[in-house]
Formats: sequence, C-alpha cells, structure tokens
Amino acid sequence: MKSYLNKNCKGKTIFVTGGAGFLGSEIVKQISASGGTALVYDNFSSGKKKFVENYPKVKIIKGDVRNRSILHKAIRKSQYITVGLGLKGSII
Ligand SMILES: NC(=O)c1ccc[n+]([C@@H]2O[C@H](COP(=O)([O-])OP(=O)(O)OC[C@H]3O[C@@H](n4cnc5c(N)ncnc54)[C@H](O)[C@@H]3O)[C@@H](O)[C@H]2O)c1
Repeated sequence: MKSYLNKNCKGKTIFVTGGAGFLGSEIVKQISASGGTALVYDNFSSGKKKFVENYPKVKIIKGDVRNRSILHKAIRKSQYITVGLGLKGSII
C-alpha cells in the first residue's frame, strides 16, 4: 500500500484507535516504517495483538474508546491521533 503519512514521524508518538484491526494495523505499519512510535489503543474485540506487536516502536494499550478516563490518560502521551475504527453515535 502506498504511504500517505508525512515522512517526519520520527520522534513522534501517534495514537491509533482500533490499531489492531485491518485498517489500523496498516496505519501502525506505516508509522513504524517512517520512524514514529505507534500507540495502539484497541479493545481487541476483533483486532489481534499479533497484527502489530512485531513492528518496531509499537506500544499497546488495551482499552475501549467509550471508556473516557482510560482514553484521555492514554491520549496525553501522544502528539497525533489517527482513527482506525468507526462506532455509531457520538463518543466524545
Ligand atoms: N476494511 C475496509 O475496507 C473499510 C473500508 C471503508 C471503511 N471501513 C471502516 O473503517 C473502520 C475500520 O475497519 P476495519 O476493516 O479496519 O475493521 P476491524 O474490525 O478490522 O478493525 C476495527 C478495530 O477496532 C477495534 N475496536 C472495535 N471497537 C472498539 C472500541 N469500542 N474501542 C477500542 N477498539 C475497538 C477492534 O478490536 C479492531 O481492532 C470501520 O468503521 C469500517 O466500517 C473499512
């Protein structure tokens, strides 16, 4: 897949909701390949750790995006946010 990421991910932490899913894990792969740290936030309802855990500089937090306290705590450690999942209705 062609990379659409800014090449300047080095030294940056990018928060990826649903990062262990089909689309999210591709985002994680591209962040990792461009030198950034991917902070995967996923409840593993359908995604799998094995899809992302072997890329360099990947941190994994198990959590649900609807759990605001865990989500907010985890997000503070990141400079950027990408979204690899969709839920019906507003969550924020
Ligand atoms: N796959 C495609 O080709 C495609 C195309 C267009 C749009 N989409 C949309 O993109 C989104 C992601 O698609 P996908 O194929 O990667 O799905 P996926 O199921 O592979 O990935 C979703 C990820 O989100 C995680 N997740 C689900 N609910 C969560 C929650 N409440 N909190 C935290 N993590 C949660 C799952 O465990 C999984 O890892 C969906 O909304 C889908 O409709 C997908």
